[in-house]
Amino acid sequence: MALRTIRIMGDDILTKKCREVTEMKPRIKELIGDMLETMYHAEGVGLAAPQVGVLKQIVVIDASEEGDQPIILINPQILELSGEQTGREGCLSVPNKAGIVTRANYVKVKALNEEMEEIIVEGEGLLARALQHEIDHLSGVLYVSKVEGDLIDASLLQEEAGEEREAQA
Ligand code: NI
Repeated sequence: MALRTIRIMGDDILTKKCREVTEMKPRIKELIGDMLETMYHAEGVGLAAPQVGVLKQIVVIDASEEGDQPIILINPQILELSGEQTGREGCLSVPNKAGIVTRANYVKVKALNEEMEEIIVEGEGLLARALQHEIDHLSGVLYVSKVEGDLIDASLLQEEAGEEREAQA
C-alpha cells in the first residue's frame, strides 16, 4: 500500500462525476488499500476516489471511535434518508476549513463490497454525515456548496480539538 496525494479544491477532478466500477481488478484492490492508508494517515473519517484523482465510484469510511472499522463502498446508492442533523463538517480536499452543514441524521445505502457483493449499510449521526459527504464527492459535489454561513478557519477551532476528527472527510 502507498499514500496517495489528496487533491485540493480548485482541482477540476473534484467537480466531475465518477464512473461505476464494473469489475474488481487488482489495481482497484490496490487503490482501495491506498485510499484506506491515505484516509488514516490524514486522520479523516472518509475518503472518496476522486480525492486521490480517480474518477471511480469508490469510497472508504471509518467513523468508529477506535478507527478500526473501515467500510468500503463501491457504486453506492442512497436508498433512504430521514431526520436531520446540523453540525460542523470539513473535507480533506479543503484543508484547514470547516463549515456548518445540515444533513439527514439517518441514511441507508446500497453498494458493493470488495468482492462485488451487494451490501446494505445504515448509519446515524457521524456515520450518516460521512456517507452523505463521500457519496456527494462521487457526483462532483463538495460540502462547501452546502455550508450555511461562512467557511470557518479551522485554526480558530483549536480550542475544540475534540471535535476535529469529525471535521475531515
Ligand atoms: Ni470530502
